[in-house]
Amino acid sequence: MIASSLFKKLFFVFIAFFVLQVNFAQQTSVTLNVQDAKTVINKNIYGHFAEHLGHCIYSGFYVGDTNKVIPNTEGVRNDIIAALKKLKVPVLRWPGGCFADTYHWKDGVGPKKNRPTMVNQWWGGVTEDNSFGTHDFLNMCERIGADPYLAGNVGSGTVQELSQWVQYVNHNDVSPMANWRKENGREKPWKVNIWGVGNEAWGCGGNMTVEYYANIYKQYATFMTDWSNSNKMFRVASGANTSDYHWTEVLMRDIPHNMLEGVALHSYSVTEWNNKGSATAFDEQQYFGTMKVALRMEEYVTKHSAVMDKYDPQKKIALVVDEWGGWYDVEPGTNPGFLFQQNTMRDAMIAGVTLNIFNNHCERVRMANLAQTINVLQAVILTDKEKMILTPTYHVMEMYNVHQDAVMIPVTVNTPGYKQGTDSLPALSVSASKDKSGATHISLVNIDPAKSQSISIDIKGAAFTTVNGRILTSKKLQDYNSFTETDKVHPVEFNGAKLSGGTLQVTLPPFSVVVLSLK
Ligand code: AHR
Repeated sequence: MIASSLFKKLFFVFIAFFVLQVNFAQQTSVTLNVQDAKTVINKNIYGHFAEHLGHCIYSGFYVGDTNKVIPNTEGVRNDIIAALKKLKVPVLRWPGGCFADTYHWKDGVGPKKNRPTMVNQWWGGVTEDNSFGTHDFLNMCERIGADPYLAGNVGSGTVQELSQWVQYVNHNDVSPMANWRKENGREKPWKVNIWGVGNEAWGCGGNMTVEYYANIYKQYATFMTDWSNSNKMFRVASGANTSDYHWTEVLMRDIPHNMLEGVALHSYSVTEWNNKGSATAFDEQQYFGTMKVALRMEEYVTKHSAVMDKYDPQKKIALVVDEWGGWYDVEPGTNPGFLFQQNTMRDAMIAGVTLNIFNNHCERVRMANLAQTINVLQAVILTDKEKMILTPTYHVMEMYNVHQDAVMIPVTVNTPGYKQGTDSLPALSVSASKDKSGATHISLVNIDPAKSQSISIDIKGAAFTTVNGRILTSKKLQDYNSFTETDKVHPVEFNGAKLSGGTLQVTLPPFSVVVLSLK
């Protein structure tokens, strides 16, 4: 009898302990140093990337200008234009990626029926008809309200071809390329400022050494004249892969700084290149692994920035993370060369923490491009014929767009660890900014899939009377929006923040993204 009641007591103590372990809100503190806010978060940190890859362009953005089923403007889907406008996409990179170093822009202008076909050698070996070209892309950017970022072909192109592309889109007077543009129906130049000088020169862009590429870069950059004389060229050198600091060092050392406006960096959240794992069927260990790689972005931007500081202490040259995002195995039954993957709450976590890292490093990181906008890798939009859905990543990017061109508020974060065995990651990620209207925005991410965070935010240098916000979370980390359940994951109003005096108390549920607005 006594033994059985003791057993019962022990049993309840064990259960209570277990419940507390799982749901106990961990105490943590954050300080917002409003008085130290000085650097603008360049809106281009919220940029996107559209490559001729799988169904990103064809059957994604572009359904053809003779399509009578899906409403479109000059062949570009109207629902996609509206969704990207709402997202406030500031800049869109095109046409690649690896594709860029195979792309000959002249094949994609003029009457569509006369355009030659090409084989997309990097992505599935499919034949493309070049029906989506320079005019189509630049007119689409105007409709979205995004600045274009054109990636030039260095790997298999010529200096003349790239310099003529600049003349074609930017020259506002009489010249062979400007005349050709006008014949093709566009009178005024588009004034494209942002140009990539090749892509991944260390890999698909030509397998070059950085010393060799730095020379090639100078040759190309010399002839990339600003034909309009009214807009300054922003040339981006093909940058390092993840932790290749030597690459950044040589670019910064060997290229005269009056020829260089940005240095790129590519980093994908992939745990094992030969076994990337499913986008939706993953366990907690795999989730932890993905987040561990995603959080390395902090180290990469810190160390690449330190290398750049050595040569450019005034931070004139931008670090441009023009490819980032989660990368998993393709969805079963889809073309392996098309990189089509679903997008879950795990991707929302990647987006939240990565954008916080970029915001906090906005002195040097002044542009970034999520890979890729539609139907490829960590997409914000997925399409299936006439259907279109928004992914959890879309919602994070939309919630965070309040930071665009706002002044970054430095934050100090005292975070508990999210633990797996002996390994630990910071559970909490935060960034904050003050916008032109005087409102302050705080974005918070709790990557811990089981524990809430009870956060005390000390606000120094400002006083507020109201707080409201939105939260993105779901029942399971593996949740995603599908063509049958289109709105399973979506942001809702957040009621877990309370202001009292100079302190804000927030309870952040497990695996959630919250953006607060204080006035
Ligand atoms: O985004 C897919 C590919 O990843 C890009 O084409 C390339 O630049 C990178 O390796």
